[in-house]
Amino acid sequence: MSGRIRITEVSPRDGLQAESVIVDAPTKAELVRKVEATGVDEVEVSSFVSPKWIPQLGDAAEVFDLIAPTKRDGVCYSALVPNMKGFEAALAVNRDAREKHGVERLIDKVSVFTAASEGFSLKNTNATIEETLERFAPIIPEAHAQGLMVRGYISCVIKCPFDGEISAAQVGDVASRLLELGVDEIDLGDTIGAGTPDTIEQVLLEVIDRLDGRAHNDFGDPTLTLHLHDTFGNAAACIDRAIEVGVRSFDSSAGGLGGCPYASTATTRAPGNVSSLTLIDAATEAGVQTAVDRGMMVEASAFASGLIK
Ligand code: HMG
Ligand code: MG
Repeated sequence: MSGRIRITEVSPRDGLQAESVIVDAPTKAELVRKVEATGVDEVEVSSFVSPKWIPQLGDAAEVFDLIAPTKRDGVCYSALVPNMKGFEAALAVNRDAREKHGVERLIDKVSVFTAASEGFSLKNTNATIEETLERFAPIIPEAHAQGLMVRGYISCVIKCPFDGEISAAQVGDVASRLLELGVDEIDLGDTIGAGTPDTIEQVLLEVIDRLDGRAHNDFGDPTLTLHLHDTFGNAAACIDRAIEVGVRSFDSSAGGLGGCPYASTATTRAPGNVSSLTLIDAATEAGVQTAVDRGMMVEASAFASGLIK
């Protein structure tokens, strides 16, 4: 196996959004700096969602203001936006960063998010899948007009805590709709960590088929990303299989922090994201490179874990 994988570090957003402790903005900024320094390709910094739904990330604009002066050349900063209001908040952050800090483009990518299951979509965004797509339609061309990339997340690609098993075709259909809307990247979320190498391979092959041979987007990045949660300890094996079928872009979280609050049920808490060290080690084992300094990721992971103790 050869090549290199692209890594998006999601601990500042996905890692902190479900924790009962609210981490203050300067500490979040420190986490971003630490994970960014490891050499990851992208840092998912925060989300511009309703603070009533996710109070943990209500300070997104403040965090971006704090990290603007130290952004490393070549790193991609991204943020989740559920609707036009969130997208406009992201654009305002970029305007402020230009005026206050002289940073040409602070947020490089906005991530819209929907699901393969209606149950999860409703719980997570108070909208059906169709309604979420309607919300995204005006955002995507406007993002492109501003030079921003757009990631399209699909949650619950294997199983939904409310609707049960999800077929690969269901995921493929949502992926096709997002691609029609113009997203640059599809990110498949195994939100509750239900995947096995075989089921992950099935859904990846379905979406690769929908991508119609387009492995890279206009920005030169992979069009397909995998976002795993390590609930049952299958993530490393799933990463190995994904690399085997050609996936070269993964999300991971320092210290394995986080999970989605709306993936919890009455009896089970939302599980954590695959840890960045697990991802790096699985990639190395599979014979592909990463741009990350492992020693620095050990340090960043200890810092991340310390935040939620
Ligand atoms: P809603 O309550 O239906 O929204 O929520 P609404 O349009 O009726 O507005 C209600 C209030 O929210 C209004 O304020 C709006 O202004 C405000 P009020 O008049 O009551 O004062 N509002 C906003 N405020 C700030 N930013 C915004 C915004 N939009 C409306 N963008 C909404 C709909 C989508 C806003 C809500 O459901 C929401 O914010 N959901 C986000 C939930 C979330 O962040 N989940 C986690 C991310 S997804 C995930 O983690 C999965 C992933 O990791 C992959 C995987 O693992 O599967 C990506
Ligand atoms: Mg997640």
